[in-house]
Amino acid sequence: MDTNPSASPAGTFFLFDEKPQSGLGLGFLDSPQNPTPPPPPCLEVLPSQYVNQASSNVDLTVEPVNVDGLTLLKGRVSTREVFGLSNSDLVPGKYEGGLKLWEGSLDLIKTLNSEMKEKNLSFTGKRVLELGCGHGLPGIFAFFQGAAAVHFQDFNAEVLQCLTIPNVNANIQQISVSSTEKCVSEAELRYFAGDWSEVHRILPQTLSDENGINECQTVNNTAGYDIVLMAETVYSISALPSLYKLIKKCTCSPHGVVYVAAKKHYFGVGGGSRRFISMVEKDGVFAAVLVAEFADGSSNVREVWKLHFR
Ligand SMILES: C[S@@+](CC[C@H](N)C(=O)[O-])C[C@H]1O[C@@H](n2cnc3c(N)ncnc32)[C@H](O)[C@@H]1O
Repeated sequence: MDTNPSASPAGTFFLFDEKPQSGLGLGFLDSPQNPTPPPPPCLEVLPSQYVNQASSNVDLTVEPVNVDGLTLLKGRVSTREVFGLSNSDLVPGKYEGGLKLWEGSLDLIKTLNSEMKEKNLSFTGKRVLELGCGHGLPGIFAFFQGAAAVHFQDFNAEVLQCLTIPNVNANIQQISVSSTEKCVSEAELRYFAGDWSEVHRILPQTLSDENGINECQTVNNTAGYDIVLMAETVYSISALPSLYKLIKKCTCSPHGVVYVAAKKHYFGVGGGSRRFISMVEKDGVFAAVLVAEFADGSSNVREVWKLHFR
């Protein structure tokens, strides 16, 4: 399983886990020779599109992933086949890492599971958004726990088409086949591609107003997500303000919560859970609580934070 980026093959940028060796910093990010391209357009990817578009020439293999006794399926597709890139964790502005399964998404599922066991969290009947979903495993977990709607967002439509949608389908199929009871819910599953600075325009439960908080109780009882999930999304300093603005627009105030799984620091890029939380605390709209810490010695310390409205 390739959840540890430091185990990536040679040629990978090694952005996130290891302190950069000399010359392996992210100088190229700011280089005038390599300006970040404009983001791809925002669009909803329909499940029917994945069979006949980008994914048609892409092989998906699935393997089981065990998370705290729960078996989920993890699809694997080739970055070369989807984006024509070899061995890249990401290429800023073009491909943002969604084809790889990052450790944080498994940390997040473990934490959600504990939160449920401790009766701090329930997905039953809730509207859930997974930001920066990639494989979408936390969103799939929410679906299996009875969410009424799970919306998946990724920077790249290709990731949704070639990986997220087939991966969601594979997991649903597995549960349907292995379970004798009818436990698969009728939740609304939808998929949205776009940059965090723009994607609020197409996310159904999100305020279109530029700077607002989504006061769903007073404005519209059906607007806003009850639970927002994200794993390994806070690595890029430049993207943090738009990500945070989006969270404020789409989390249902006052009861909505946000779970953020991330490494404490992303060496070489400067972001990290602490940098993000410091921005959140300065703004003062949310309170932030550290709910889990993962320090397995093999990589940077990882954390899961929960945000709730003050
Ligand atoms: C490192 S990957 C993590 C993927 C997945 N959550 C996991 O843990 O396996 C970062 C995710 O954030 C998304 N992302 C990064 N920057 C983004 C941006 N500026 N706008 C929208 N999505 C972005 C990427 O598409 C990708 O899905």
